[in-house]
Amino acid sequence: MVSIKNLHKKFGALVVLNGLDLEINQKGIIAILGPNGSGKTTLIKSLLGMVVPAKGDIEIAGEKVKDHWNYRKDIDYLPQIAHFPGNLKVNELIRMIKDLRGKDARDKELIEFFKLEPFLDKKLNNLSGGSKQKVNLVLCFMFDSPLIILDEPTSGLDPVSLLRLRDLIQQEKAKGKTILITSHIMSFVEEVADRIVFLLEGKIYFNGTVSELKTSTGQPDFEHAIANILTENNA
Ligand SMILES: Nc1ncnc2c1ncn2[C@@H]1O[C@H](COP(=O)(O)OP(=O)(O)OP(=O)(O)O)[C@@H](O)[C@H]1O
Ligand SMILES: [Mg+2]
Repeated sequence: MVSIKNLHKKFGALVVLNGLDLEINQKGIIAILGPNGSGKTTLIKSLLGMVVPAKGDIEIAGEKVKDHWNYRKDIDYLPQIAHFPGNLKVNELIRMIKDLRGKDARDKELIEFFKLEPFLDKKLNNLSGGSKQKVNLVLCFMFDSPLIILDEPTSGLDPVSLLRLRDLIQQEKAKGKTILITSHIMSFVEEVADRIVFLLEGKIYFNGTVSELKTSTGQPDFEHAIANILTENNA
């Protein structure tokens, strides 16, 4: 489904991706982890054509992404930082995105799911951070694409909303989708992820299941296994 070969990206003198290889051929939930600044968002944006790599090849569903755009129709993407037009009301933004995408959308169901009805008539500038994130989630999940890419979907959510998000992601997985997700909430990752991909120094440092990660680091729990990678590498 996703094939990345020898990906390189620098911003000025800063090397972010340094010959990264990654094959994702499975359905289910794949967590992309790594410390702040390790290149997770850069990698995700490269998949979407929003960052242009200096070198390397990316194929999604058998199609090279370079100079193509059609493949993006079959990806639902949640950006880490959503730059919403603040003067639009929530319902106006949802309608605009539906018009742009031109696909069937299940916005009503998701608005109910995240309890957003009271906010539909409010301007985006006036929403709390968590409510904005719920709008971000509705915009992402309302189209039924086979590949979902979620960059920090947990950010700003209260505990109840976090549980709702977990259920939603698991429902999408049950439909046979592939879901790439980044999050710094390790308990959330441990609960949902079928596979962990850990980025360090511009490459994939670890690629395997949570239990394989525990075994390879000799740590009894997931949080310590991640901490072990970071301390061993002075990250
Ligand atoms: N457009 C840009 N111009 C210059 N530097 C950038 C740009 N985008 C990202 N960077 C730098 O590239 C590095 C990787 O950033 P990136 O956003 O991919 O990290 P991340 O792993 O997603 O981090 P976080 O966990 O904080 O979200 C950082 O040092 C960042 O400052
Ligand atoms: Mg990021």
